[in-house]
Order: sequence, then C-alpha cells, then structure tokens
Amino acid sequence: MKTITLHTKNTTYQLGISPLGFVHHLYYGPKASGDMSALLSMRDRGFSGNPYESRNDRTYSMDALPVEYPCYGCGDYRSPAFNISDEKGIFGADLRYKSHQLEPGKYTIPGLPAVYPDTSEPDDIQTLKLVLEDARLGAEVTLYYGIFPELDVITRTVSVKNNGKGVLHLHKVFSAALDFISGGYDLLHFHGRHAMERLMERSPLSHGTLTIGSFRGTSSHQHNPFVILARPETTEDFGDCYGLALLYSGNFKCEAMMDQYGQTRLMMGLSDDMLDYALCPGETFYAPEAAMAYSSAGLAQLSHIFHKLIRTHVCRGRYRDIRRPVLINNWEATYFNFTGEKIINIARQAASLGVELMVLDDGWFGRRSDDNSSLGDWYVNEEKLGCSMAELAESLHGIGMKFGLWIEPEMVSEDSNLYRAHPDWAFIIPGKPPVMSRNQLVLDFSRKEVVDYIFAQMTEILDHASVDYIKMDMNRSICDVYTAVSGRQNYGTIMYRYVLGVYDFLERLTARYPNILFEGCSGGGGRFDAGMLYYTPQIWCSDNTDAIDRIRIQHGTSFCYPSCCVGAHVSAVPNHQTGRVTPLKTRAVTAMAGTFGYELDLGTLDAAEKQQVQKDIAAYKSFWPLMHDGMYYRLTDPNTPCCAAAWAFVSPDRTEALVSVVVLEMHGNAPAVYIRLKGLAPEKQYVITATESAAAEGLAAENAVSGSVLMHTGIPLPAGLTQYDSIQYYLAEVSDQRRFRKV
Ligand code: DGJ
Repeated sequence: MKTITLHTKNTTYQLGISPLGFVHHLYYGPKASGDMSALLSMRDRGFSGNPYESRNDRTYSMDALPVEYPCYGCGDYRSPAFNISDEKGIFGADLRYKSHQLEPGKYTIPGLPAVYPDTSEPDDIQTLKLVLEDARLGAEVTLYYGIFPELDVITRTVSVKNNGKGVLHLHKVFSAALDFISGGYDLLHFHGRHAMERLMERSPLSHGTLTIGSFRGTSSHQHNPFVILARPETTEDFGDCYGLALLYSGNFKCEAMMDQYGQTRLMMGLSDDMLDYALCPGETFYAPEAAMAYSSAGLAQLSHIFHKLIRTHVCRGRYRDIRRPVLINNWEATYFNFTGEKIINIARQAASLGVELMVLDDGWFGRRSDDNSSLGDWYVNEEKLGCSMAELAESLHGIGMKFGLWIEPEMVSEDSNLYRAHPDWAFIIPGKPPVMSRNQLVLDFSRKEVVDYIFAQMTEILDHASVDYIKMDMNRSICDVYTAVSGRQNYGTIMYRYVLGVYDFLERLTARYPNILFEGCSGGGGRFDAGMLYYTPQIWCSDNTDAIDRIRIQHGTSFCYPSCCVGAHVSAVPNHQTGRVTPLKTRAVTAMAGTFGYELDLGTLDAAEKQQVQKDIAAYKSFWPLMHDGMYYRLTDPNTPCCAAAWAFVSPDRTEALVSVVVLEMHGNAPAVYIRLKGLAPEKQYVITATESAAAEGLAAENAVSGSVLMHTGIPLPAGLTQYDSIQYYLAEVSDQRRFRKV
C-alpha cells in the first residue's frame, strides 16, 4: 500500500492508497514514523461488501476498514461524508485515487473563510491536494490538507468539480472525516439555547450515531461547530483528545459514531439536510474548511492550540493583536428608549470612569421605537437622535469616546419601506404564510442585488459619519427558504449561498473600513463560530449578562475560542435575564475573561461603585497583556456542583499568572476550599497578591510559594467569602521582581 504521511510538530497523519485505488485512513495521533498500513485488519466479514475487483478476496471491505473520505456507493454502509446523484437521480459514487501533490503554502477557498499563515510567525506550511475521481460521473473530488507544523494543526476542505456532461447533484459534501480503528471515545460537544449557549456535554459514543448540528441558517445557539473526541480517562491535564472546528456560520452537521466493529468515525461539514447542489458541467463546488488538532496532554493543551489558531490564523484586521477599547453599550441601559442627548450623557459618565467606546445599539434608524418595524430602512432617525449621525459621532469624539453602531443587515421588517418596495427580497414561500420571529423576515442574501443594496445603504452611513466600531447582529433563525429569482430551480443551494452572501457582505465591509472594529452577534452567541471570527474578531457571547450564568457559558466557549473573541459586559442588577444580584466586582471579574465592557447607565451607580468601576477598568487594562498572550486554564468545572468557579491566565514563560475565582455556592461552617492552579512552572517560586487586598486573608503578599505546591495543593480561599463573591490573585515569579505589580 502506498502511503502519504503528514507531520506537524507533535502529530502524524497517514493515509494509505490501496492497489485498487481506495484511500484509507491509517493514523492520526502522536508523532510517529513508518508505514502504518499493517494497522488495517483484513477479515472476511459477513454482510460487508467487497469491491468488484476483489470479489474473491472477501477480506477487503470498505465497510470494515477506515476510509479517508467515505462515500455512498463504494460498499461502506456507514454514514458517508459524500453523497452524489447523477442527472437521472441515480445515487452512488466510486471514488478512486487519481493523483496527489504536496505544495508549499496554504490553499485558500473562494468566497469562504480559511485559516491563513501568520506572517509574523513563519511556519513551514504545506498543502496536500489529493484528487479522487469517479470516472462514470466525471466527478473530481479534491481533498485539501493545510499542514501547519508549528501551530500543530491540519486544516481540511473538499472541492468537487464536474468534468462530465450532465448535471450532478451534491447531497452531502462534508469537509472532514476521521476514522479510528478503535472505539471507546467520548464526544464533548457544546449545546445550549438563546441566552444559555455552549454548555459542555460529554457523551460516551456507543453503537449508533450521535449527531449535532443546525438547520436554523446560522451555526446556532443550540449547537456549536466545534467538538472534541476524547478518551474516557482524558481530563484537562491528561490524555488523548482531538478537536475539530468548522469555519462556517450556517447549517452544519457533525456525526460521531461507533460502527458494528466498534470503530469510531467523526465527520463534520455543511448540513446535508435539504442540500441539493446542482453542479453543472465545468463548475466547481467548495466546502467550508475544518481545522483539526490532537493533544496527548488533555483538554487544556487542545484549547491552547485552538486559541492560538483562532487568535492568529483566523481573526484578522487592525484589532487582531491590540487591546480592544473598553466599551459601553446602551442596550440594557435604555433598550429603544433613548435620544442623542441621553446617549451622550451615558457616554460622558462612562468616559469619566475610563470607558473608551460608546456603542449605540438597536433603534437609531427608520421609525424604529420597538422591534416591530424599520429593519431594512437604514437611514438615520435624526428626529430621535436630535442630530445627524455625523454630529453624534463628533460629539462623542469630542468627549474622548470612540463611537460604535449596531446594525442588522440581513433582516427586514414587514413594516419597512424596503419590504414595501421589494417584498420578493424576503425569504417567503409563495402561498405559505411565513414563520415570523421577533416579527421580522430574513432578506435573501443568496441574491447579489440584495447584498449590494444593503451594502450601499451601510456605506452611505459609514462614509458620512466617523464610526469606530460596528456590532453586526442577526436576530432570528431562518426557514421558508425560497428565492424569487426566476429560473433558479436550485432551492437546495440557497442556505449555502446565503452564507456566501453574508461573507461577501462582511468581506467588502471589513476591506472598505479597515479601521473599524467589528463585533459579531446573533441574539448573543447564535453565530459564535470560527467562520464569523474571520470577519469579526470578537462576538457578543450571549444575551445573558448574569455573571453566574456567564461563567458557565464562557467556560464552554473557552474550549475552542480565546478570551479576546468573547464579548462580555458588566450589566445592572438585578440582572435583566435572571433577576440575580451579584456584586459589581464579580460582574467585572467575569467580564474580564472576555473583551470587557459595560452595558448599563453608569450614572445610576453610587460613588463607591463608580470608584470600583474605575479600579476594574484600570485592572483590566493592566492585566490585558497577560490575558491576551497568556494561556487560559480552566481550574474548576462550574457545571458540576462545586464551591467556586476558577480560571487562570498564565504567561507563556510561566513567570506571571492571573487567577480569578467566583464563589458559586456557600454553606454554613463550610470546609476550606483550595484552588489548585495549572500551568505554572513547578520549580519557580511565586509571590501571590490578592488584587483587592482587603479580601486577602489567605496567603500574605510576602509569602512566596512554589509552582509545585500551588498546583498540587492550591491557594486556600479566605474565610468570610459569601455566595457570588469573587477574588483575583496575581502571581509573579519571585526572581523576576521587575514584573511584580502591586494592584
Ligand atoms: C440582540 C443582541 O444580542 C442584543 O445585544 C441587542 O443588540 C439586541 N439584539 C438589539 O435588538
């Protein structure tokens, strides 16, 4: 068997091409060398078909062997990654090896986000193109592998070219498939709902298929396009695990299964539900990209790989590596009830406490005074603002604040001039009452003229007002998928083309306004995925701003996504979503694990609270380099019954750390609680300071403790903490006193 082997710094990936031209997956795991084709176990298996050419050799079956890109029709009866039919509607493919080549550099994907090389940290990146062919159909399927040795990541995508004479119908083209010759894995996935997203769930894989995904038009609040396959014994610090992330923001599917022989298959890609992509002769289809990584040292290490990947090879733009301005957003402060003057007052108060950016949320356009009208009418409501947008921006800049604006370009209200002029631009199936959500409809972004029109409306505003930040929202799930373009029969492609339209819009907007900071949003975290992060380097993590719920949401989010991508704000109490009352400090400590901002009228706080806000902003700014460059460690699991949630940022050279602790539960006469640290250097001595020394009854600032002790025993929490209190510890290596900062 001919083999192809890919290496990253710590991993090896091997494929094998059988004499019949079938491509098998041989190995993905810790770095290894040699031919691994002996791993294939050839046995005569009942009811597992054999290729025509090997019919007398009943030991060769695609149904029982690990396959690199499983397709329906080749005798592999497990769920396929690829399913195609011809012009007559006949299903079945026979993909065989045609050629391969290894090229320097990284492939790109037309119209879709893709991991890119970071020129500031050169890596010896290569692309493997492996071409498979179905001679009967004239289908050429190319598997792409982007190899990032230093980053320890392999990216994947697939293209399908129609070299035949008839139209081909693509029903399933997953981006990546991974077959393992053994079972006994858990799938870690991130489920949720609006205002409670990305809660980690760990499910043992048993016989059958565990499917997660979305056909809501966005990647969704309900499931996230990132999963981990881990051994049951794998923990944060120990054991084998594989991560798979899809850079896509629309309908997706992930299938994880254990087959009849106890083998495991993990696949992810575009959802095949309602996919019917008619591929005309000469045309090529491109699947979205998936990124995969392996860790032999548990989940923390896997997260570190994905954090780096996303921070430096997915996020782009001016703000990629710099501290984002501390912002204040008026949504929870005013909802729709604001005037220009009210906004300036909120901003003035915020500026005096150290806030740097005022974001004007929903309600500044058309006749919008609630969520029932005006989406699509992107002209400024000067009557409500009392001035033009340019004047508002000028006033805010005048008080030293940057200015940000909320938009929701993909939507239209029935009560809007746009809808009255172009009712056919909305997704509505003729003769069927459309499903409404927030009383709004979705614009057909699969149509270029629709995207062009909205884009022109946006540029009209942004060219005339000095805007520093855009929050791009999307507030409903999509159904009634229909396009009114005459002659377009191909409804099974619309949701894919819709996402391409959104990406086109964002690509144009970010290119035209390179100095604007973009934040994604979809009712909070309904489109929190690596595809969106390619355009917007941060995403509003959830509409739930309650600190305690947020800790759980951010905990799940942290498995794949770095803290610099996580939009997080301090809001008022009682919290508007849960009614819970938490201390201001705790809300700040929680928001510091993200981009940090405020979402309340700071003018309503008393003098002591305002002082606290000033201190928190100063602390955030001072700790930002450590939080941005540092490695993030989950120290406890806030979803299990535990006294405290805790997480830490540790500098790459392990000389500094910031530990944040929030008390989740308190009981009478409670036992002492120790927070065991991770990621420190065992031999180093650390000086520990509680950042608010009034609360520090634990270790005295002068005490130095070894990394080893802190990781094995931990920091004792001081007595007297009550439920929802928080405490932050700053650790600095003793020998490096220059770094020690008293806070
Ligand atoms: C949903 C967002 O998540 C909120 O922050 C806010 O922007 C509203 N939409 C405005 O309609």
